[in-house]
Amino acid sequence: MGRPEGLARPPLVSAMALSLLALSLLSSVVSSLQQPLPRVFLSFEDLQASQSFEHYSISDKAMDYRILQMDEDQDRMYVGCKDHVLSMDINNITHGTLKVFWPASTSKIEECQMAGKDPTHGCGNFIRVVQPYNRTHLFMCGSGAYSPVCVYINRGRRPEEQVFHIDSRSESGKGRCSFNPQVNTVSVMLNQELFSGMYIDFMGTDAAIFRSLTKRNAVRTDQHNSKWLSEPIFIDAHLIPDGTDPNDSKLYFFFRERLTDNSGNTKNIHTMVARVCPNDIGGQRSLVNKWTTFLKARMVCSVLEEDGTETHFDELESMFLLETDQPKGLLVFGVFTSTSSVFKGSAVCVYNMADILTVFNGPFAHREGPNFQWVAFQGRIPYPRPGTCPGGAFTPDIQTTKEFPDDVVTFVRNHPVMFNPIYPVGRRPLVVRTNADYKYTSVAVDQVMAADGNYQVLFLGTDKGTVQKVIVLPSNHSLHEDLILEELEVFKNQAPVTNLRISSKKQQLYVSSEFGVSQVSLHRCHAYGSACA
Ligand SMILES: *[C@@H]1O[C@H](CO)[C@@H](O)[C@H](O)[C@H]1NC(C)=O
Ligand SMILES: *[C@@H]1O[C@H](CO)[C@@H](O)[C@H](O)[C@H]1NC(C)=O
Ligand SMILES: *[C@@H]1O[C@H](CO)[C@@H](O)[C@H](O)[C@H]1NC(C)=O
Ligand SMILES: *[C@@H]1O[C@H](CO)[C@@H](O)[C@H](O)[C@H]1NC(C)=O
Repeated sequence: MGRPEGLARPPLVSAMALSLLALSLLSSVVSSLQQPLPRVFLSFEDLQASQSFEHYSISDKAMDYRILQMDEDQDRMYVGCKDHVLSMDINNITHGTLKVFWPASTSKIEECQMAGKDPTHGCGNFIRVVQPYNRTHLFMCGSGAYSPVCVYINRGRRPEEQVFHIDSRSESGKGRCSFNPQVNTVSVMLNQELFSGMYIDFMGTDAAIFRSLTKRNAVRTDQHNSKWLSEPIFIDAHLIPDGTDPNDSKLYFFFRERLTDNSGNTKNIHTMVARVCPNDIGGQRSLVNKWTTFLKARMVCSVLEEDGTETHFDELESMFLLETDQPKGLLVFGVFTSTSSVFKGSAVCVYNMADILTVFNGPFAHREGPNFQWVAFQGRIPYPRPGTCPGGAFTPDIQTTKEFPDDVVTFVRNHPVMFNPIYPVGRRPLVVRTNADYKYTSVAVDQVMAADGNYQVLFLGTDKGTVQKVIVLPSNHSLHEDLILEELEVFKNQAPVTNLRISSKKQQLYVSSEFGVSQVSLHRCHAYGSACA
């Protein structure tokens, strides 16, 4: 087995570095990369026999476990799947799991089937929004057999109370959860307001970033405006600070979009990040009840070959935010795939939040008309700079977005895209996998402190139901060199991993797929004896 847990031990780290020198150098031709093998492979049976693994599922049926909402303060994780929401003890997910059964109503299921939707994959209540609401309640929404619904759940004040039940009438989930469970919904709750990225209509043609559940007015993206959103597939959303004033924090939505080129024919998929100010209440005369602070930028994850060709991984699958001290700041990890006709593969890219902010503070993209090239906007930029939040460090005198001058609002409506793309750290991926019989679907990252510095350990979920534990070593080649320390078969069935969560407090990893949730220790030292004791 070797000593795969060497990260925490300086002597072992250098042993690992030595063994790396023995690895063949990566070829600059991405498509000729060999599939690296894990140092250690543990099958589902191996894991079950170990003491650092648990698996939970409601039944043997595919239930589409997907939403994992951590609550480390309460030692709980809330899980949304088909017709159920679970409250799990993060110490041991098989121990005293609480369960709420919340199916769609019989009449909605009948209507859904009459409309010709898939009875098993479409006409259930697929729970896609599970958010903390207040000190006692969660807010959750499900697809409700193509008729989204939301309820409040009472989870009690403390986990010992063992309280977990629906505590309200159901209300409409329109603008909060997609109708079609195959279409992603992402959500963030801030001060009892819900921000969702989803499709707002039955037909699935009207995508929006929407604020609902609010005492203020609902606010959304400009409707059917492909400059703002073009067939997006939402992947994740997070509130991220910008400077020290909390009023400058912005909500970022990460998604892929399908863009038509100038001829209006070929459709390219790009990964984009869009942001809005949570306190945006829309414009006064224009963009009424629409975001007046909406901007977006492209995220690039590509490999530059020595001959100058660029291989793109354009489809974001999953992302993870990591706070670091060295270098100080926030890192954004993304798993990307490529489905070009030339080759298939996946890559992990990492972005510095500072670089993302630089792009949003840089030039706006502009074009004279549909058949023109995109250029950097050269004209006068109105004040306050479009995308600035009201009441923040730069606009203390502007209390709401309704006070923005008309030219600011008009500018945002016409120039929501930044000119420069966002490149990853070092302009290259951390990990590239091509010619492998799997793709990555999800990522979580653990920061490990060692005597000679901090290491980032990547946990990468695959589409064959395994999790790989990977470390990346810096190199001077066009690609980094990575090492798969372990591959863990966390599910019996080879279904794709749908989500990953880390509890740093408990040093545990939680993984979901269609078939259930698995829990595994981040670092399985005891399994390797004294290697990292
Ligand atoms: C988790 O709980 C189950 C059931 O109570 C128990 O059999 C198992 O040993 C526990 N696992 C751990 C790692 O404590
Ligand atoms: C939390 O919200 C629910 C639903 O609105 C409400 O019934 C409950 O009283 C609230 N709890 C607290 C502690 O405010
Ligand atoms: C944030 O904005 C609100 C209202 O616009 C204002 O009352 C408050 O002072 C601002 N907060 C800070 C920290 O500036
Ligand atoms: C990378 O290159 C720099 C300078 O070009 C050199 O100092 C460093 O030792 C090299 N590192 C490796 C791992 O080869």
